Amino acid sequence: MSRKKIIAGNWKMNGGLAANQALVTALKAAGDLPADVAVCVPYPYLAQAQQLLQGSAIALGAQNVSEQTAGAFTGEVSGEMLREFGCTYAIVGHSERRTLYGETDAQIARKCVRAQQAGLVPILCIGETLAEREANRTETVVAEQLDAVLSATGIAAFANIVIAYEPVWAIGTGKTATPQQAQDVHAFIRQRLAAQDANIAAQVRIQYGGSMKPGNAKELMAMPDIDGGLIGGASLVAEDFLAICKAA
Ligand code: PGA
Repeated sequence: MSRKKIIAGNWKMNGGLAANQALVTALKAAGDLPADVAVCVPYPYLAQAQQLLQGSAIALGAQNVSEQTAGAFTGEVSGEMLREFGCTYAIVGHSERRTLYGETDAQIARKCVRAQQAGLVPILCIGETLAEREANRTETVVAEQLDAVLSATGIAAFANIVIAYEPVWAIGTGKTATPQQAQDVHAFIRQRLAAQDANIAAQVRIQYGGSMKPGNAKELMAMPDIDGGLIGGASLVAEDFLAICKAA
C-alpha cells in the first residue's frame, strides 16, 4: 500500500509573532508540496497561525492536549479548544513531555483517546533512550509505549493516528538514527499493529523524528516503513523545512 508522506514541524517553545509570520509566509509561498504538511505551534500562536494558513494546504497542530474534557484543570487546554483554532493534529507523548513533565504511558493513552473524541489526529510519539538502546531494550520499550495506547483506543483508532518514532538520543542532538536503524524499529511497530489488524497496520503512517535535516531526509524517507518526519530544529528555518518536505 502506498502511504502519503507526512511532514510535521514541531516548533517546541520557539517563535514569536514576527518570526512566525515570516516563517509561515515563506512556507505558504512555496506552493504545492508533495506531502501532507503541518506545523505544530505553541498554544498562544494558534490563532495567528490559523489566520496565516488560510487558503494554504498546510495544516495546523498543537504540541500537547489535555486528557480532560473541561473544568477545573488550571493550565490545561482541551481538544475542543484546539479544534476551534483550526487544529487538525496534536502531538501526544513527546519525549520531552514524558521526561521533563512526567507524562506516563497511561496518561498519554488517555490523551490519545480524548484527542480523537475531539476530532483531532494524535501524533503519538514513542522511542527509546540511549541507555535503553544500549541495553537492547528498544523493542521492549517501544512495544510498551505502543501497547498502552492500543489497549486504551483499540486497533481501529489507529486508522486516525500518526505515529512518530523518535529515538530520544537523536532528538536535538544532531545524532540521527541510520536509515536502517530507524527502518528496523518502524517495521517492528508496523508488525506489532499488524498482529491485530493487517489492513490498519498497512495504512498507518509512521514518521521518523530526531535530527532529521535536508541532508538526511531523503535517505530516511526512502526506507519502506518511514512515512515522513517530525521535525524539531529544522522546522524553524523555512528553507530547511521546505527542503525536507520536498524530499518526501
Ligand atoms: P529535532 O526534534 O528535529 O530537533 O531533533 C525532533 C522532535 O523532538 O520532534
